[in-house]
Amino acid sequence: MKKKILCLAGDGIGPEIMNVTTPIVEKVCAKFGHEVEFTDGLIGYAAYDKYEDTMPEKTWEQIRDCEGVLFGAVGLPDRDAQLKPEMRPEKRALLPMRKEMGLSINIRPIRVYEGLEELSPLREHLAKGVNLTFLRELNSGIYFGKHHTDPGGAFASDECYYAKEEIERIASFGFELARQTGQVLTSIDKANVLDSIGAFWRSTVSSLHEKSYSDVELQHCLVDAFNLYLFTKPSAYQIVLTGNMFGDILSDGAAGLAGSLGLLPSASINPETGFCLYEPSGGSAPDIAGEDKANPIAMILSAALLFRHTYKDEAAACAIEAAVQSVLGSGVRTGDLVMGSGPQEGQEIVGTTGMAEAILKCL
Ligand code: IPM
Ligand code: MN
Repeated sequence: MKKKILCLAGDGIGPEIMNVTTPIVEKVCAKFGHEVEFTDGLIGYAAYDKYEDTMPEKTWEQIRDCEGVLFGAVGLPDRDAQLKPEMRPEKRALLPMRKEMGLSINIRPIRVYEGLEELSPLREHLAKGVNLTFLRELNSGIYFGKHHTDPGGAFASDECYYAKEEIERIASFGFELARQTGQVLTSIDKANVLDSIGAFWRSTVSSLHEKSYSDVELQHCLVDAFNLYLFTKPSAYQIVLTGNMFGDILSDGAAGLAGSLGLLPSASINPETGFCLYEPSGGSAPDIAGEDKANPIAMILSAALLFRHTYKDEAAACAIEAAVQSVLGSGVRTGDLVMGSGPQEGQEIVGTTGMAEAILKCL
């Protein structure tokens, strides 16, 4: 299968993790009988430096002309003061791209691989067997509701809105996945206090379950309690269904329990068109940009998701995941994966390129 993939490396560590990931995509394509046509595009401050716009029209054209996007990171807090909030990359590029392209389903898989429990800050018996798939609604909720700051500076408000069909869209994706994998679906809400991501969310998910998915095991959990359970019994959960805001917060915490934000890939999917965007969830990390220190694994695992969801080739996706597991298992570590006490016996500290080379070699 041949696919047109747009690479938007963006800011901070984006370019360096992108540079080491495209050769891995090419190698896996060659091995599994696929083809990839890469194009490069500019986004974030990388685009601003050329077009004085963090999301130029040219980039929109490229996005509309491809079948999937590999995305690095955007945002540089040091340069944000230069721009009005609505012109900064998060609000001008990332969120409009999610909305315009209908990327309503964000998948964030979080795993503690067997034998790699030491990567987790949790004790081994708690970290063992963690295998979570977060499904975060990405097109609505408080992110896309009305935002208002009183010009007099007395108050500000953000509206949290959810339409029934928006909840049903992500819930049905979750139920399908649960049915396919035989896993339990846990829906997160604040039903004891709120409406949109509270009682309405819960009753919408429940009704859909009764109507079309009663064979799937569903449980509801309040967000505050779930945040605790992530650290006291994370292996008790499988597929986790959330609204936009709760998914943002909980998935960072869950990535932390797996070892590092540098390990967390994501895929954002338009369930109607099949268009997808793949991005590491860790952000631009400007403090370590350009130093060959960034962990490229989140980007490389995002490429695995590219094979799973765009090429629809499960074996190719699993090959990348297995290579990552094997390299980590052999003791190769980027700095973020080493505890404060320094590397242990048998561990080797490498940079961005060293880690990617080890994974490429393993493939
Ligand atoms: C994420 C990020 C974004 C979000 C920011 C950069 C707008 O934190 O993808 O999780 O909040 O969605
Ligand atoms: Mn986030």
